[in-house]
Amino acid sequence: MQERLKELQTEALEKVSQSANLKELNDIRVSYLGKKGPITEVLKGMGKLSAEERPMMGALANEVRDAITSGIEEKQKHLEEAAVHEKLAAETIDVTLPGRPVKTGNHHPLTRIIEEIEDLFIGMGYTVAEGPEVEKDYYNFEALNLPKDHPARDMQDSFYITEETLLRTQTSPVQARTMEKHDGKGPVKIICPGKVFRRDNDDATHSHQFMQIEGLVVGENIRMTDLKGTLEVFAKKLFGEDREIRMRPSFFPFTEPSVEVDVSCFKCGGKGCNICKKTGWIEILGSGMVHPNVLEMSGFDSKKYSGFAFGMGVERIAMLKYGVEDIRHFYTNDVRFLNNFQVHE
Ligand code: PHE
Repeated sequence: MQERLKELQTEALEKVSQSANLKELNDIRVSYLGKKGPITEVLKGMGKLSAEERPMMGALANEVRDAITSGIEEKQKHLEEAAVHEKLAAETIDVTLPGRPVKTGNHHPLTRIIEEIEDLFIGMGYTVAEGPEVEKDYYNFEALNLPKDHPARDMQDSFYITEETLLRTQTSPVQARTMEKHDGKGPVKIICPGKVFRRDNDDATHSHQFMQIEGLVVGENIRMTDLKGTLEVFAKKLFGEDREIRMRPSFFPFTEPSVEVDVSCFKCGGKGCNICKKTGWIEILGSGMVHPNVLEMSGFDSKKYSGFAFGMGVERIAMLKYGVEDIRHFYTNDVRFLNNFQVHE
């Protein structure tokens, strides 16, 4: 019995040392040390031994088991290390190979216009404010001096969600929201970019969804001349130093007086061409002095405070600036169109 056990040990360790992978090693473990293995088989004969021999044989059987187990463990460590080395060798990277070129994206032309305008106004001390696209009727209309049955609501056909909520038709509700937050204390100096929605039929110059940028300044002694100076800086920055602006009387319920602002044509310089429709001027935005009702409704004392506001369509500005003829190009994301606006920074 003793000999048989020794034999088994030698035989098992021999196989262990010859095993070439973890699977083979595991098979050896199962076949020698498992319940149905030869060692268990030998030990079954222990019953036939004398009481003195039994503990000795038990100890020997344990020794043999331990020897085989540690033989297997050691081999396993070797095999695992070898596997790691092999993997590392296979995965070496040749750092001298040329890399794959990375295709960089580009800002959408509308984003560029918005950022350009934001930068300009941030430079003049404005902060950027945002508001919800699903807006309350109150902020979109009522707080802007457009009560429920006001005829001027027809100027902006709206998508209503419930009777009291709609997709905002302009960024002006952000004015009302911001003023309300200021709790009657000036100054307020904000610029609000964002998406707006109107029930228009889409064509080359209309879209049911577009972007606006709104500006609002409220403080003491804010005058129409401040508005004019500000817009002049804006027009020169965006359309070129030689530009001039002119104001034409207009109507918005939330401003009084209200004006439409034109910029002198950047193509013909004022002589008259197809872009300015032979007038020398191009309309770019609506603006005016904040209506006292709007100030009061948002908690400002209109005797102490005054302000100006302006709002423009970002697509319109981008179309003029980049000579884009169809507003729908901005939304269809044709790369041939977008690639025209590649900037290499
Ligand atoms: N919200 C106006 C519009 O969408 C534009 C505007 C903004 C006019 C602020 C005056 C002052 O037509």
